[in-house]
Amino acid sequence: SAEELDARIRSAKATLGDRVVILGHFYQRSEVLEHADFVGDSFQLAQATKSRPDAEAIVFCGVHFMAETADLLSGPDQAVILPNLAAGCSMADMADIDSVTDCWEQLEELYGTEADASGRVPVIPVTYMNSSAALKAFCGANGGIVCTSSNAETVLKWAFERGQRVLFFPDQHLGRNTAKAMGIPLERMPMWNPRKPLGGSTGTELEAAQVILWHGFCSVHKRFTVDQITTARAEHPGVRVIVHPECPMAVVDAADEYGSTDYIKKAIEAAPAGSTFAIGTEINLVQRLAAEHPEHTIFCLDPVVCPCSTMYRIHSGYLAWVLEALVGDAGQPPAVLNRIEVPATDATNARVALERMLTARP
Ligand code: 13P
Ligand code: SF4
Repeated sequence: SAEELDARIRSAKATLGDRVVILGHFYQRSEVLEHADFVGDSFQLAQATKSRPDAEAIVFCGVHFMAETADLLSGPDQAVILPNLAAGCSMADMADIDSVTDCWEQLEELYGTEADASGRVPVIPVTYMNSSAALKAFCGANGGIVCTSSNAETVLKWAFERGQRVLFFPDQHLGRNTAKAMGIPLERMPMWNPRKPLGGSTGTELEAAQVILWHGFCSVHKRFTVDQITTARAEHPGVRVIVHPECPMAVVDAADEYGSTDYIKKAIEAAPAGSTFAIGTEINLVQRLAAEHPEHTIFCLDPVVCPCSTMYRIHSGYLAWVLEALVGDAGQPPAVLNRIEVPATDATNARVALERMLTARP
């Protein structure tokens, strides 16, 4: 039962004490987050990874790319554990290293590799945190950087100080929404199309490109629509609409504000009691915020429940299982299950790209 699992997790955690730290992303189920030592958005979780160098194990309640990042940023003797290895991210899977390398080679052919008079190279690769460690390594090796939804503008500025243009992957929406907010016109953000050889119409658009967008998207956030916002405004006059920047551009434009999961949480916390919010992000977070803030009216823009199916794959049973394995018992020696380890071939360069992000200043 849920109570039994809860008690097993508490007991294993108490036995392990400071040997383990549990990190949880805002989209996790509440019954999992209850046990987390730190809850945050992707950027905060990356920072939090570094805050407990004494812990032998970091149990990451989130998705695979987040656990990989934790492995990259934690100490060499710390084990990062993903309670369910099937917790991936469909957006991260939309950019693979072979396709990105192929694109990169074609861009080098088009733009060359020489820096301009002010020392800016032709293209800087920028990967969204929601990507494999191999892509982060690609960025590290090619003068590029990682961004999250909370620092995408800072990171793009960093990139434009060093490059004439940016190749942004995997999320087209975060790339487009951020570049648009920075005043880059839409016609200067073409989408990379692997099927159109350079010199075709895509090639012409690429000549003037400032941000070249990859075709990835989040299947949860692409569900939000302008119609939902129109309905929310009609039914709730005065409603404040806040969406995540993984939503399509028309939705971000129609909203009052957009920001990372932590931005959404803080906006709600800072609002005067009696506010009404329509939120465009994953349902677990929206429902928890609604429960934690009875002084407000908070609802999800999408009337059909829209969980992130992979975040949802971490449930209490898996958490109990990996924690109890770390404890061991009379019959079983302690064991690290579901360890996430980025291969050494990717780790060095991926760390370079992550550290550039952690030290980039607005
Ligand atoms: P945040 O960086 O806003 O937490 O977003 C992570 C994510 O996966 C959103 O879909
Ligand atoms: Fe990936 Fe979207 Fe889930 Fe975030 S919400 S982890 S981008 S599938």
